[in-house]
Amino acid sequence: MIRDHWNKSAADYSEIVRQELTSDISSRWQHYVQNAIHHEGTIELLDVGTGPGIFPVLLADEHLHVTGIDLSEDMIEQAKNNIKTAGIEADVFVRDAADTQFPAASFDFIICRNLVWTLERPVAAYQEWHRLLKPGGQLLIFDGEWYGHHYHADRQERFQTLARYVKDTYQVNVYNYGGEEHPDDHEMMHHLYLSDKKRPDWDISTLETIGFTIEDVHHDYLDDITGKEERLKQGDITPVFFISAIKP
Ligand SMILES: C[S@@+](CC[C@H](N)C(=O)[O-])C[C@H]1O[C@@H](n2cnc3c(N)ncnc32)[C@H](O)[C@@H]1O
Repeated sequence: MIRDHWNKSAADYSEIVRQELTSDISSRWQHYVQNAIHHEGTIELLDVGTGPGIFPVLLADEHLHVTGIDLSEDMIEQAKNNIKTAGIEADVFVRDAADTQFPAASFDFIICRNLVWTLERPVAAYQEWHRLLKPGGQLLIFDGEWYGHHYHADRQERFQTLARYVKDTYQVNVYNYGGEEHPDDHEMMHHLYLSDKKRPDWDISTLETIGFTIEDVHHDYLDDITGKEERLKQGDITPVFFISAIKP
C-alpha cells in the first residue's frame, strides 16, 4: 500500500521538490542542515526516504558523499533525474528504511525529511539506523505530526484555533490531513502506526530506549526556513519538529 501510494505521487512530488530547489528556500535548507551537523574530513551521509532526492542535490560535495534510499522505484527514478540535472555525484538505491542491507557502521550521518510518519515499521527503522551509524554518528530527523488533531483533544484545540486564525487573517482554508474528505489520506492515516502517537515525544523515548542520546529538539523548525507568516499564509499549520540524536 505505502509503496503504491508513493509510486503514484512520484512525478507530482518531484515537481514540488524541483520548485524548492530553484527557490531561495533551498539555500535556507542547506544552511539549516549544515549548521546542525558537525564534521571534519570526508563523510558518508545516508538520506533515508530520499524521494526525488532533495538532500543529495543540496548536500553532496567533494567532502560529503550522499547515499539516498527509498522504497519507491518511481521516486528513485525521479531522484536519478534530479541528481543528473544538478550535475552532482550521489548514489541512490531502492531499499526499505528498516532493512537497508548496508554493513554496520557504514555512515557518519543519517538524515530524513518527512519520512518517519509514513513508516510501517518505525521502531525497526530506528534500530536499523542505530546499527548503520558509526560510533559518534549523528541522526537528523525532520518530521511532523500530520494527524494528531484526529486523536488528541489538545491537538484538536490547537488545530481549530490556528485554522480560524488563518481563515480570518489570510482567507485561506488549512488542509485537513487525514480528513474523510480526502479518502486516500484518510485510509493512510488509519493504516499507519504513528498516526495516533504524540510526537516528537514518542520518537525521543523510542530513540533513547534503542541507545541514542538526544542532542537537540527543535519544534516548528520550518519557521526558520519557510518563515512563520509565510507558512500560515500557505495554510500550513502542521506541528513539525527536528531531532538531532547521537549514537554514543
Ligand atoms: C513525503 S516523502 C519525502 C521525500 C523526501 N525526503 C523529501 O522530503 O522530499 C516520503 C518518502 O518516503 C518514502 N518511504 C516510505 N516508506 C519507506 C520505507 N519503508 N523505506 C524507504 N522509504 C520509504 C516514500 O517512498 C517517499 O519517497
